[in-house]
Amino acid sequence: MVKAIEWFNSKVAILDQTKLPFEITFVECTDYREIAECIRTMKIRGAPAIGIATAMGIALGAQNIRAENFERFVESLELIFIEMLSTRPTAVNIKWAVERIRSLLIKNRHESIDKIKELIIEEAKKIQEEDIEVNKAIGRWGAGFIKDGCKILTHCNAGSLATGGYGTATAPMFVAKEQGKSFDVFVDETRPLLQGARLTAWELSQKGIPVILITDSTAGTLIKMGEIDLVIVGTDRTASNGDVANKIGTYTLAVLCKEHEVPFYVAAPLSSIDFSISNGEEIPIEERDPEEVTHIFGKYQIAPDGIKVKNIAFDVTPNKFVTAIITEKGVFRPKHLKKLIDEKVNLEKYRLYPT
Ligand code: MRU
Repeated sequence: MVKAIEWFNSKVAILDQTKLPFEITFVECTDYREIAECIRTMKIRGAPAIGIATAMGIALGAQNIRAENFERFVESLELIFIEMLSTRPTAVNIKWAVERIRSLLIKNRHESIDKIKELIIEEAKKIQEEDIEVNKAIGRWGAGFIKDGCKILTHCNAGSLATGGYGTATAPMFVAKEQGKSFDVFVDETRPLLQGARLTAWELSQKGIPVILITDSTAGTLIKMGEIDLVIVGTDRTASNGDVANKIGTYTLAVLCKEHEVPFYVAAPLSSIDFSISNGEEIPIEERDPEEVTHIFGKYQIAPDGIKVKNIAFDVTPNKFVTAIITEKGVFRPKHLKKLIDEKVNLEKYRLYPT
């Protein structure tokens, strides 16, 4: 499975996703600022992947801190946290990764600074390994919803490139394929940065899964024609009531699915669920450079000079349009998401199974 990021020899290698699928090149980072820049410019993108990049960036930054005591060390680290948190606002995984490192610091405050530096590297690598396992669990829970011969639609890229290395929305597809099922996946090209066309179509084809690439505006007609059996997308941040922020265009798909009674599933690792917010209105939505809309690959201008642009990168789908959320702990209705953080709850009571 292709990996978007890897820690090796005290460096971090990032597969440059802006060049895919035409060139496979890696950016070698030795400083946290380089990682922050890779996140901003979307050389690495996708919520769990930028969470992992954040942890690895902090690990790199920590190595260069010269501090005489724990308090000074944490003060310097806080500046790195601020830099990483400023990169992209919508995906909660960045904040989630910072919080993981913060709790590691609290737990190990009596260790030597050198030991803590080592532990941060270990934690960053662990976050990636855990993410792959989480994705596989999402795949096992979700694969049952994929029936032999069915037609799936997905949006943007929630594949291995967007995660530690297996994908969230793609995980049920990979597991279903391993189970010997055959199915087609319609992939929205996903304007303006074409993550669907460049990344998802590439990843799925490499795994031998039949892909049909469509323009974003074709999806509605296909859904209306009865050509789509289910939609599976990822998420950058899901609120505790099950409102889902994901790539712009997701909301449109969800409304269409409701109208035409097509199940709309969201694959969400717990690291992408923000239990601190009650609903989607609290999710910060990123707006990006107008040039992403007026130019293709920053090179070919496709709109008049000076035209006004609105480039909203994500939208929020209200929970009423979401059939179920596929997590590593099972598949749940949006209204039952909160049960996941109550350790005393018997989750079996709330899990959904394919019929
Ligand atoms: O702007 P991007 O490419 O980072 O947006 C990515 C998405 O919208 C994905 O669907 C989401 O991060 C889930 S990734 C498993």
